Amino acid sequence: MIGIFDSGIGGLTVVRAIMDALPEYDIVYFGDTARTPYGTKSGRTVVEYSRQDTEFLVSKGAKIIVIACNTASSVAFEDIQDRFDLPVYEVISPAVDLALDQTRKDIIGVIGTRGTIESGIYERKIRERRPEARIHSAPCPLLVPLVEEGWSEKPETRMIVKKYLHPLKVRQIDTLILGCTHYPVIKHVIAHKIGKKVRIIDSSVALAGQIRQFLTDFPDVDATLGKNGHTRFYVSDVTRQFEKTAKTVIKRNIELTPVDLQG
Ligand code: DGL
Repeated sequence: MIGIFDSGIGGLTVVRAIMDALPEYDIVYFGDTARTPYGTKSGRTVVEYSRQDTEFLVSKGAKIIVIACNTASSVAFEDIQDRFDLPVYEVISPAVDLALDQTRKDIIGVIGTRGTIESGIYERKIRERRPEARIHSAPCPLLVPLVEEGWSEKPETRMIVKKYLHPLKVRQIDTLILGCTHYPVIKHVIAHKIGKKVRIIDSSVALAGQIRQFLTDFPDVDATLGKNGHTRFYVSDVTRQFEKTAKTVIKRNIELTPVDLQG
C-alpha cells in the first residue's frame, strides 16, 4: 500500500493526484484531523506527530510513505527517512523542480503555513539550485481554516487571498508555489487574484509522476504494493464538516474510519 498523511483535508489533493496517476494501486490515507492544523505548531510537535502518523500507516501495511503536508515535509522529512526503513516522499522538492522549470524571470513567490514559511525550506532548496533566483514568501495562516470550512467560493476568502498576495504581486513574481497542500482547493481564487501571467505550481501531479517513475525503476518495491485499486481513509476525528469537504476534494463518496493514535 502507498501510505499518505497530512493534518487533514490538504493531503487529499495529493491522494487525488496519486489515484489519477496510479489508479490500480492500493492507498491508505491518514488525516490527523484531531490535531490539525500543523502549520501553527512548533517543529518539535510536528516531528512527533509525523512519527506517529507514519507508524500508523506502516501498521496498516504501507510500504511507501508520502508526507502530503508541506509543514511536515519541511521539518520532519529527514527524521522520518532516518527512522523508517522504507521510501519516503515529500511535497517540497517536486514543487521546487516544477517552479524552476517554469519560471522565466527567476522571480518566485511561495505561500504556505507559518511553519513552512518560517522553516525557510523553499528558499534553501531554490537557492541550492539557482542562487540568482529572487524569492518572495508569504505565510497565509487563514487559508487552511477557510479551506477546511469549505469557504472556497465566499467573498471573504477572495478578499483574504487578495490581501495575502498583494506583496507578491507588487514584486512581480512570475511563478507562485502553492506551498501547502490545502491551497489547490482554492487554486482558482489564487490564480484569479495573482493574475493570468503568473504560473501556479501545485506539486501533487509532479509528485505522483515521480512515484510512478520510482515504481518503474524499482520493481522489487513495486511488487510489495497491493494493486486492487482500494483506498482507505483514516482520520483521528470525524466531523460532518470534514466529511463534506473531503468528498468535494476527492470527488467521490468516501468512508472515513476514526482512529485514536494515542490509545
Ligand atoms: N496541508 C498542510 C501543508 O501542506 C498543512 C495544513 C496545516 O495543518 O496547517 O502544510
